[in-house]
Formats: sequence, structure tokens, C-alpha cells
Amino acid sequence: MDATKDRLGRIHHARVHACWQFQGRNSVSMDETNNVARASGAIDAWIGNDGSGLFPYDAVIRAYHEMGKHFVPDTLLERLDDARSLITKQAQTEQALKVFLDVALDKYDSRYEYVTYLAISVLSIDAGGARGDTRWNSLEKRDRLFLHLICDMLRFELLMIDGADKALQQLPPDPKVSQRRCASALRALKPVIERIGLDFSQADDDPIGMARNLCRIVANRTERHEQELLARSILPVYVVHDEYMFIRVLQSFELTFCWIAGRLMKALECFDDSPKDAGILIKQADGVLAETTMLFSLLSTMQRESFQTFRAFTEGASAIQSRNYKLVESLCRVPEESRLHSIAYSSVPEVQQKVIAGVSTLDDAYKTLDKRIGNAQRTELTQAMADFAKSIKQWRSTHYGIAIKMLGENTGTGYTEGTPYLDAVRTIPVFPSIDGVAHTKEIEEVS
Ligand code: HEM
Repeated sequence: MDATKDRLGRIHHARVHACWQFQGRNSVSMDETNNVARASGAIDAWIGNDGSGLFPYDAVIRAYHEMGKHFVPDTLLERLDDARSLITKQAQTEQALKVFLDVALDKYDSRYEYVTYLAISVLSIDAGGARGDTRWNSLEKRDRLFLHLICDMLRFELLMIDGADKALQQLPPDPKVSQRRCASALRALKPVIERIGLDFSQADDDPIGMARNLCRIVANRTERHEQELLARSILPVYVVHDEYMFIRVLQSFELTFCWIAGRLMKALECFDDSPKDAGILIKQADGVLAETTMLFSLLSTMQRESFQTFRAFTEGASAIQSRNYKLVESLCRVPEESRLHSIAYSSVPEVQQKVIAGVSTLDDAYKTLDKRIGNAQRTELTQAMADFAKSIKQWRSTHYGIAIKMLGENTGTGYTEGTPYLDAVRTIPVFPSIDGVAHTKEIEEVS
């Protein structure tokens, strides 16, 4: 995007925003307005100390939440830029600060996109198209972060219900929606809560009370570095309440795709020597994908007006840029030439280049399966693949449904025509060699 145009756009929006504040439409108090001055002062002090001591993350995050990332004034952005210059000069750059500034300054640098919007580098949930990355091989690790992300969303919801937080106050949902939101989040968390073995019962008909209880339990088990990670990984572009939930849901899906990519890579590794294990790995990926799809119910509690409001400032950031998703897709099969050279893959250049250079895939491995494999084993593996393919297609259909609901006929922020793109891609075979093999499972429709 043209840098000057983007910058002028931000200045224009900042003026509109300031105007709203004076008209009292965005109830920002003088105290909150001081957040920017406080954050700037704290950065100055940190720089004055030559960057020693803890960077004032909290003050910066507070200021960002007060305005929305799109409207953070230049005074603060320039201070952050100074902080960045200081750490690049230092030999021992603190990696955590570097990635945080990368996310905080994406709009300032005119390199704002999906990966920075979701603070994917802060959470380290980027398989990045890098086959062989095994960081997310542990289901336990994936479950723990998933639990934290969704519980943090619940915590934020409860703060709003209790009137205890002044951040992101525009368009708060009514109590009925909040109740549905809590219930959907709890449903989506159920398998993870069971696997982790949390002492938490869902046998209650008060979702808000249950959410409180769960948040308390999880808070007691949250370590300091996890709290910091959560705080630093959410910088909404605007001040609409629902954007918080939108970001946490997207992050939870990204985490899951990242973990699934790890499972599929392992499956590919052992495909020839141990097809049974490959089948088990694909089955695990299938199970976790299917349960994560329940997050769409949670997402459907987003108010359409909220989405329409904040998406005005997310232009250029779209999940079409999700490297994790495209990595999963290209581990399953080599995409058709037309798709590989379309916006679907040009939006993820790292993955695109790897695929063009030549990659091995599960579909190719299946086609060349050694004849020595017995019929029973072949059937088991075929079935695992067919079930996984079914879950991916189910994911695409549910995603398409929610896009219709929230977006209507508008174009996408990733520069496609919007839902017609999603409609066209949802039937693409996941594993062309077994397309048409009946899956074995009943899949619940997610509303
Ligand atoms: C309000 C909810 C959502 C809407 C309206 C929506 C809309 C869209 C649209 C219009 C596209 C096409 C690209 C573009 O122009 O932006 C897209 C692509 C995509 N979205 Fe969403 N989306 C939503 C939620 C999600 C969620 C929660 C995820 C989970 C990560 C997700 C993942 C994806 C992926 C992976 C693609 C790329 C698909 C492909 O290239 O085949 N979306 N979405």
C-alpha cells in the first residue's frame, strides 16, 4: 500500500475520531487521554536509561487500547520508533520487545497485514511455511495456549459485564449476547478442559457464572510469562468491544492450523515406513480441527455492526495471508497451477515459493504407497484421510456461512471479491487421489 496515502488516511481518521470524542460519542475521559502522554513519558525514561530495565509495555498497551491501533497519535508512534532504533543499536536485542514493536508499529511502517494484526510472532504460532518446524508438535502445549486465549477473551467479557474496564467500550453486546458468547466459548473449550484435566464442571445453567469460575481456576494456573504474552498479543485496530473476541478466535484457529501442520509433517515423514502411524497422526489432526470448528459458534455472536465498524481499519489484513492455513493445504496436496499463481498463494509468498520449488505432499505419498501395505492398513489410512478432508471442507463451509452473515456482499479485506471467492474455493479437493471416498463420521453442523 502507498505509504503516504496510508499515513494521510490515518491522520484523517484520527481527526474524525477526535471529533467523535468531543461530541461525547466515544466517552473517553481526560484521564484516559493522558494514557498517551504517560506511555510517551515512560518510553522517554526508558530510553534515557539506555534501554535498561523493563520496557513500559503496560503503559503502551493501555494507550493503544484507548484509541485503537489505527488512531495512535504520531507522538507515541515516534517514541516507539526511537525505542526500536535503540534496541537495534544494542548488541543484545531483547527478542520479545523486538517482536512487540514489530506488531505495534506495523501501521506506522505501512506493513500492516494479517500476521502483524494477530501478533502471530508474539505468540510464536507461525509455522511460516517452514516445513520441518516442530515447535508445535505437543498437543499439551497447543491446548494450554488455546485455553489461555479463550479464557482471556472470557475475562475481557466479564470485565465489560462488571463495568470494570474502560478499554474498547464501543458497541458493547447486550446481556443476552454476552451470555450466548460465554456459553459458546465454554462449549468450544470442553475437549481441552477434559484433556488438561481441569477440576471444572460445566453442569450449570449459568454460563456467565461458569465463565467466572473457569477464569478463576485458569488465572491461578497462569504463569507470569503467559500473562505477559497474552497482554502483548492483543492490539485491536479500533475501540469496538467485539474486536477483542474476533482477534482471540482468529489466533486460536491459527494456533490450531500451526499444530495441524506439525502433525501432517510428521505423518508425511512416517508415511512410507509406518502408514499406521501416519493414519493415527492424521486422525489426531482431524479430531482437533473438528473441535476447533466450534469456535465459529462463538464468532457468530459478534455483532454485524461491530464487525462492519472495525473492519474499516483492517483493510489489507486478511486470513488469505495465513501461512499456517496454506501450509496445511500444501502439505495435503500440490495446489492446481491456477490456484498457486492466484491471489490465494501470492498472498503467502513464503509458502508459494516453496511449493513452486517442489514439495512432497500426503496426496503424492498416498499415490505411491508401497504395494506391500496390506488392505486393512490401506483402508484405515484412506479413511483417516477422507475424514480429515471432510473436516476441512466442513470448516470451509462454516467459514463461508459466517462470511455471508458478517460481510454480506462486501469485498474482502484481502482484496478478493469476498464471499464468491470463498464459495469457489470451498469444494477444492483436499486429497485429489481419494476425493469421493466416503468419510466415516457424522459431523455436527455449527451454527
Ligand atoms: C467475520 C468473520 C469472517 C469473515 C467475514 C471472513 C471473510 C473472509 C474473506 C472475504 C476471505 C477471502 C479473502 C479476502 O478477500 O479477505 C477470507 C479468507 C480466509 N479466511 Fe476468513 N473470514 C472470517 C473469519 C475467519 C476466521 C475466524 C478464520 C480462521 C483463521 C478465517 C480464515 C480464513 C482463511 C484461512 C482464508 C483464506 C482461504 C483461502 O485462501 O482459500 N476467516 N475470509
